[in-house]
Amino acid sequence: MGSRMKVCVQGLGYIGLPTAAMMALAGHEVVGYDVDARLLQSLENGAPHVKEEPVRALVVGALNGGHLTLSDTLPADAEAYIVCVPTPTIDHKPDLSFVQAASSAVAPLLRAGDLLIVESTVPPGTMDRVVVPALLAAGVDPDTIAIAHCPERVIPGAIVKELRENSRVIGGRKPGDAERARTLYATFTSGAIFTTDTVTAELVKVIENTYRDVNIAFANELALLSEELGVDAHEAIALANNHPRVNILSPGPGVGGHCIPVDPHFLSNANPFVTELIQTARRINERMPHVVVRRIGEYLAPRSGARIAILGAAYKANVDDTRESPTERLEELLHERGYTTTVFDPVAERYRGMLSASLEDALRDADAVVLMVGHDAFAELDPAAIGPLLRRRLLIDTRAFLPAERWAAAGFDVYTLGGKRRDPLHFVTAS
Ligand SMILES: NC(=O)c1ccc[n+]([C@@H]2O[C@H](COP(=O)([O-])OP(=O)(O)OC[C@H]3O[C@@H](n4cnc5c(N)ncnc54)[C@H](O)[C@@H]3O)[C@@H](O)[C@H]2O)c1
Repeated sequence: MGSRMKVCVQGLGYIGLPTAAMMALAGHEVVGYDVDARLLQSLENGAPHVKEEPVRALVVGALNGGHLTLSDTLPADAEAYIVCVPTPTIDHKPDLSFVQAASSAVAPLLRAGDLLIVESTVPPGTMDRVVVPALLAAGVDPDTIAIAHCPERVIPGAIVKELRENSRVIGGRKPGDAERARTLYATFTSGAIFTTDTVTAELVKVIENTYRDVNIAFANELALLSEELGVDAHEAIALANNHPRVNILSPGPGVGGHCIPVDPHFLSNANPFVTELIQTARRINERMPHVVVRRIGEYLAPRSGARIAILGAAYKANVDDTRESPTERLEELLHERGYTTTVFDPVAERYRGMLSASLEDALRDADAVVLMVGHDAFAELDPAAIGPLLRRRLLIDTRAFLPAERWAAAGFDVYTLGGKRRDPLHFVTAS
């Protein structure tokens, strides 16, 4: 195996596509394969579906450079196959059908000495219990193949930078397998590469996201407690974070994306009895859209015909991804209570609900503005210009993102999630 390899990337989504492009630009001959014909067509047309500009530029550069080609069939002659297919949950249970299908599809093409890498985030044990059995079922002796799990840990919004610079954890199935994968990744990443066994690598990825979920749940719990105490949770957390061994994340209206709210279930499903903290954190975070609805209800009664303008459909700031977005859940809950809603997002394009064509459309005749996502584009909103469009001047800021004093000066009632309430919910008194 030379330093330039023929590589096939299976699954050209948020992760597979930039990974394929990165490898092509490092000089490898890369074939990008996906089961989605429309996605392949848009790439052929030079219009990647991932809108993050550095990703788009990287992909267009790789396609124009000629080292990245696209195919609707798996190539038989690749030396390395990289699986980047989805791993969602259904009813909080891992759905490994995509990994299973991808492994079964590639298995008959594998020849002795090939390298099979799974980048998808998977529950611990998946390489041994799903991937290897798929090879065995196709008559492939897994001992003749180098098999590795190299979980992807980039953050949407900085994918290209992090693909290049992040450290990596590579788990190999047998001695030497992780080293084989390292040889490939070292051609395009500058971050440290740590090697281990497959199940440890599977666990590492999942505990990283679970750690964040638990930390956010703690911040959310602090936000609700602080509201009762008449304290600004954001100020308290910032002050606590000055301590060298404290790093609490920010409270918010829920946790979205298809990683942080999903991956903890990979652990709690493995053993529900020893994962109480993880499950509780999940429940706290899933409850946050309900908290937002309750706060809205303190100002605008359910079934009063109130119209709520929601700002932000993406699951987090400055990304177009709306998967598992708390806004989706918020809208459902509001509709159940008889509110009508509009949603505006200048970044997101694909959303399960309806997006307003413009900010003005979303705001017109609304009784409340609910900020769900701290997109940069919302930072400059002018409350004095917005006020006249509304039926009632009420701002519910779930991210402590907008300057509350400026909005209050423009005549808005302002509620900030975790902010200091002038009327604490309950005074705590010494008994
Ligand atoms: N998006 C992220 O920020 C991120 C970060 C770290 C890890 N991950 C993990 O990476 C994996 C991929 O995530 P993603 O965001 O790229 O998903 P995605 O949904 O954006 O893309 C997955 C792609 O795989 C394709 N696909 C499905 N089955 C296939 C098959 N059998 N063969 C070929 N292609 C197939 C789909 O058509 C789709 O284009 C997941 O396990 C995810 O948890 C994602």
